[in-house]
Amino acid sequence: MTGIKIDGKEIASDVKDRVRRAATELKNQGINPCLATILVGDNPASVTYVKNKHNACEEVGIETKDFKLPSNISQLEIDKIIDNLNKDNSVHGILVQLPLPEQLDEFITTSRISPLKDVDGLTPHNAGLLTMGKAILVACTPSGIMEMFDYHNIDLEGKNTVLINRSNLVGKPLYHLLLERNATVITCHSKTKNIVEFCRSADIIITAVGDRTKFTLTPDMIKKDAIVIDVAVSKYQEKLVGDADFDQIIQKASFATPVPGGVGPMTVAMLLKNTITAASLSNQIGK
Ligand code: GUN
Repeated sequence: MTGIKIDGKEIASDVKDRVRRAATELKNQGINPCLATILVGDNPASVTYVKNKHNACEEVGIETKDFKLPSNISQLEIDKIIDNLNKDNSVHGILVQLPLPEQLDEFITTSRISPLKDVDGLTPHNAGLLTMGKAILVACTPSGIMEMFDYHNIDLEGKNTVLINRSNLVGKPLYHLLLERNATVITCHSKTKNIVEFCRSADIIITAVGDRTKFTLTPDMIKKDAIVIDVAVSKYQEKLVGDADFDQIIQKASFATPVPGGVGPMTVAMLLKNTITAASLSNQIGK
């Protein structure tokens, strides 16, 4: 017996259909949803991610503005660009692709975005609302994972859930989303002792390490019928891999996500959804 594959492409396509309809409705009300992306430098992975985001916007009828900035841009200069986008009524969502080069501070840069246009949910305002269960714009990867659970009617109440990540984009927002659904959540990280013991006790494992030389989630580390969500993408032995080998882990898990084709497409789909939410917010506030 093997478990069920959680197919990110299929679920993302479902989300995109809803987004497409919402975009049409907004256009009928005179609002043309638009996402501005800011890419600093030419990190190949970031270039690909931003290109995928633009293509996805086009697919569902969301306009894009593309800011490609030199890798040596100063904090003052990028702040000015963000300020102008905050003021621009034709732009509803602003995304600064991470990571940023060393001279730019990620917190200062992302905090500069208007909370109403913060489609990554990274501003202190939106991150704070999330901790209080009042979030409107939530980081895309975590909300995409919640969509995956809902698509498969996976009940999270009382489930022992282990996160292997504590970043602002993944682990921290997930912690709060899962807690809202009454899961019991433990966050593991690079300094956690006995990570394997935490994994073996988990009903659900959400792993996002992204370095096979440091961590691999193997079937002996999970409980029978556990649910495994693999957020990681890295290159290992010339292949794109997650933290687990899907073909092996699915032999023991009840549900698991593949890499690629799992969480990745969901991140993009939720960005589109957040852009629509931001465009709708602008409409409500404008009235
Ligand atoms: N880099 C990797 N993932 C993300 C993401 O979800 N948002 C942004 N802004 N940068 C990223």
